[in-house]
Parts: sequence; structure tokens; C-alpha cells
Amino acid sequence: MTQTLNAAHSGTFKIGGELEINRLGFGAMRLTGPGIWGEPADPGNALRVLRRVVELGVNFIDTADAYGPHVNEEQIREALHPYADGLVIATKGAHTRQGPDRWVPVGRPEYLRQCVEMSLRRLKLERIDLWQLHRIDPKVPRDEQFGVIKEMQDEGKIRFFGLSEVTVEEIEAAQKVLPVVTVQNMYNLFDRQSEQVLDYCEQQGIGFIPWRPVAGGNLQVLENVARKHDATPAQVALAWLLKRSKVMLPIPGTSSIKHLEENLQGARLELSDEDFQAISAVK
Ligand SMILES: NC(=O)c1ccc[n+]([C@@H]2O[C@H](COP(=O)([O-])OP(=O)(O)OC[C@H]3O[C@@H](n4cnc5c(N)ncnc54)[C@H](OP(=O)(O)O)[C@@H]3O)[C@@H](O)[C@H]2O)c1
Repeated sequence: MTQTLNAAHSGTFKIGGELEINRLGFGAMRLTGPGIWGEPADPGNALRVLRRVVELGVNFIDTADAYGPHVNEEQIREALHPYADGLVIATKGAHTRQGPDRWVPVGRPEYLRQCVEMSLRRLKLERIDLWQLHRIDPKVPRDEQFGVIKEMQDEGKIRFFGLSEVTVEEIEAAQKVLPVVTVQNMYNLFDRQSEQVLDYCEQQGIGFIPWRPVAGGNLQVLENVARKHDATPAQVALAWLLKRSKVMLPIPGTSSIKHLEENLQGARLELSDEDFQAISAVK
């Protein structure tokens, strides 16, 4: 059964029209300690999960310097460096950490430059394929934040640029300074507040990376519908996202190989238009 598992079943998307990835990716954040702080209880498990991710054809891994902080990027380097051809590691910067579950954005240009320089070093890369601004810092003029990122792109330190937790107006403001190839906002069957942003991304060919794609695993309400499809609730949630838009690039996170394999199987679940409508009505 597991031999048939492959992220390629989710179809492909070209980031920035160039960098081809399988649409079903992996969010690595859950491999760190509680509160996304420090080491996990079983560091070896995190490395095993990451190696299995790549074995299963996933070639799009989402992380951030602030996950751990630093622990998550270090895990990725330890498990996967030297990286397989075609593996895209999407990292982020601009969030500082003051303890478990505490996140404060800092968008001062010199700090954003430090974020990129340190991610390059930790991930052992010469260029970051996709660097995302984790949050726009409201205390710093946003054009200063976009401007320094554009400089780093011109210098060859980052290839493509993405945003996170933004409105359409903010995407448009960034696009005046540099190309925006992805947007990462919270989005799942139960929280569709970013619908307008998703529609804008679709129009513009911008990849939309929904975070919390399996609603943090709280999917009991999908149990009946999942049974009808001979699937699990997580598989239904992921198949629904993949069907919602061609630019959708879900990054489910897990620290369990069993859940990882289960989620990958979701890429094989094809929903008809009627199934999609029926699942959309489940709340
Ligand atoms: N841009 C941002 O601001 C932002 C914010 C948050 C997250 N993210 C990114 O988005 C990724 C995903 O977000 P997320 O981790 O918050 O949400 P998620 O992927 O919806 O949920 C992950 C949680 O669901 C559980 N889970 C996963 N697969 C499951 C399955 N098949 N059955 C039952 N439970 C399952 C996991 O527990 P187990 O470990 O027990 O499987 C984990 O606790 C993160 O890894 C990170 O890369 C970005």
C-alpha cells in the first residue's frame, strides 16, 4: 500500500512560474518542542519523519527560523543535507521569540538581513529558493521591509519571495516593490476567512499555502463523510483543499510517520464537484 504513496499524485505547481513542486508539501513546525520551542522529546523521530517525507516524493518543505527557534532549520539540515535535486525548502524570517508560544514580529531591515544570512548558514544553502516574510511588522514602514528583501534577491541570496498572513491590499503593496510568488495564510475547511486572498492569488498565479490545513487534527465532524469516501477525515480535508484551487499548496504538519503516510494518501482521493459541494457544507 505505502509503495503507491507519492506526493506526485497531488499534481504539480510552478513557484514563480519556474520552480516545479508537487502540490502536497510538508510543514515541519510540529517537529520542535511544545509551544514550538526547543527540541522535541524524541529528536531522532523528527529526523526519521523528515527522511520519510522526502522518500514519499514530497519536494516542498515549509519551515521558519523562528520554529524552535533555529531547531527546525537545523533538523532539516541534519536529516536532509546534501539536499536531493528539486527539493524546495521554504523558510521564513521576521518573527522573534520570547518563549513557548510567544511570537513578536521585527521587520527592521538590518534584522531581516540577519534572518536571511542565518537561515542560509543553518540550512547550508547558497541561496534560499523561497523566503517568506513571516509577518509584516506594523512598527516599520512596509516598503523598507520589502526593499531590503528586494536587495537580497538582487544579491542572489533568495530566489523567490512570499508573504504570510496578509490582505489583498498588502500583497498589492509588496508587488509594487518585488514579485510575490506565494502567500501563506491560515485556511482550511472550517476557517475560510482568507477566501478573498485565495481568489486574488488564483487570478495572479500566486501559490497559496494554507497553514493549519488539517485544522490541527480536530476533524471529528468529518468522520461520517470520510467513511463514505473510504478515507480518513484528514484525507478528506486535504483532498478538499487540493480540489478548491489549482494554486493551493497544503503543508500538513505531523510528528508521526503514520499520520504523514495517511496524509499523503489524501493526494489520491479525487472528489467530484458534487462531493466538493457537499463537503463544503460540513461545518
Ligand atoms: N505562516 C504562519 O504564520 C504559520 C502558522 C502556523 C503554521 N505554519 C506552517 O503550517 C504548517 C501546518 O500548520 P499546523 O501544524 O499548525 O496545522 P495542521 O497541519 O493543520 O495540524 C498539525 C496537527 O495535526 C495533527 N495531525 C496531522 N495529521 C494528522 C492526521 N492524519 N490525523 C490526525 N491528526 C493529524 C498533528 O499531530 P501529530 O503530530 O500527532 O500527527 C499536528 O498536531 C506548519 O508545520 C508550519 O510549517 C505557518
